Amino acid sequence: MGKNLQVHFLPFESSVPVAPGSILLDAIRKAGLPFKSACGGNGTCGECVVQVLNGRGRSRPSAALSDDLAGQGYALACRTEVTDNLTVELPQFQEISIKALPESKSIEENQDKISAVFEVNPAVKRVGLTITQPTLEDPAGDLERVRRALLKKTGIQEVNWEYSVLRNLAESVRAKNGGIDTVLFKGKQGWTVLDVEPHRAGKRTCGLACDVGTTTVALYLVDLVTGKILGAASSYNQQLKCGEDVISRINYAADPARLEEFQKLVVSTINHLIAKAVKDAGVSPSDLYYGSFAGNTTMIHLFMGLPPRYIREEPYVPTLNEVPQVAARELGLAMNPQARVQCAPAVGSYVGGDITAGLLATPILRESSKISLFIDAGTNGELVVGNKDWLVTCACSA
Ligand code: FES
Repeated sequence: MGKNLQVHFLPFESSVPVAPGSILLDAIRKAGLPFKSACGGNGTCGECVVQVLNGRGRSRPSAALSDDLAGQGYALACRTEVTDNLTVELPQFQEISIKALPESKSIEENQDKISAVFEVNPAVKRVGLTITQPTLEDPAGDLERVRRALLKKTGIQEVNWEYSVLRNLAESVRAKNGGIDTVLFKGKQGWTVLDVEPHRAGKRTCGLACDVGTTTVALYLVDLVTGKILGAASSYNQQLKCGEDVISRINYAADPARLEEFQKLVVSTINHLIAKAVKDAGVSPSDLYYGSFAGNTTMIHLFMGLPPRYIREEPYVPTLNEVPQVAARELGLAMNPQARVQCAPAVGSYVGGDITAGLLATPILRESSKISLFIDAGTNGELVVGNKDWLVTCACSA
């Protein structure tokens, strides 16, 4: 028996040692990846197709894979022996969709699909200001002069300041003869200045709406000034490699190092989607100032790096139902570092913010004559029945 060979799997960035001659499908299973193989390894369904990016395996031909694909490095995992160190991409887990919607598609046009309940009023606004230059007669500090201009233009009396904004303030207010753009966030503590930059025509202020699913993560990129949807992207949640459902993930996350691993995996998934969406839309990640996230209670705990253990132990209490807003930099998200992240509030242990976000996007909360049923048929399945006057909800593993 020769020395073990390493097989590295993408997009999971996960490696496994195997004996030379091992079947690649067995290596995937050994790595614990939830890989589909409908015919059980008979070489007939073609579902176990992989792409060998580095190294050479020994593949047997199969009618389930065309010569053309085989010539491009694709192979059936169940018909391939590992005879080399390999880097293998698993197409089953590449993004399942990514698209940019035409510029003309606005939130107003999609109002019935996206939100028929609330007006579009984002928590982040870009406000252009002209700052008077200091003189010997008016030697007020830069921050005071910005505060005055903001008050005059918007009526906002009190604002909080991000420290990083203060460090660049002196240069920003002088670069374009006092012409600046401020980016403001309105939270429970009032207004906060997230950014001040020299005015630049055409600069965008964007946000994300992201569904953090147990199996799939999906996001929309939205222009917060015009309300236009600029792009959409979705992919498998990279946490799949450490457990398919919320209970197995709660068990796996019992170790603090694994909890950190989970947080990094879901953030990596989201950052991958952000990179795709902003590239498609021609937007910079630094233009992303707001992220609205929804997911079941366990997924939001893992996203925030909070231990989910007590969600599954009687009396089934999460660390929190309503997540305080945090800065994107604290979570490692590839957005503007000062961007604010908020999560839809959960109802209870397994009824999460995904169901509350879903309710907001339907007319159920406005209806009092009819009773409706709303189902989130996800890996963690939830449903709610009721109307404007009453709601009953429950959840279970689907
Ligand atoms: Fe069906 Fe490989 S598992 S072709």
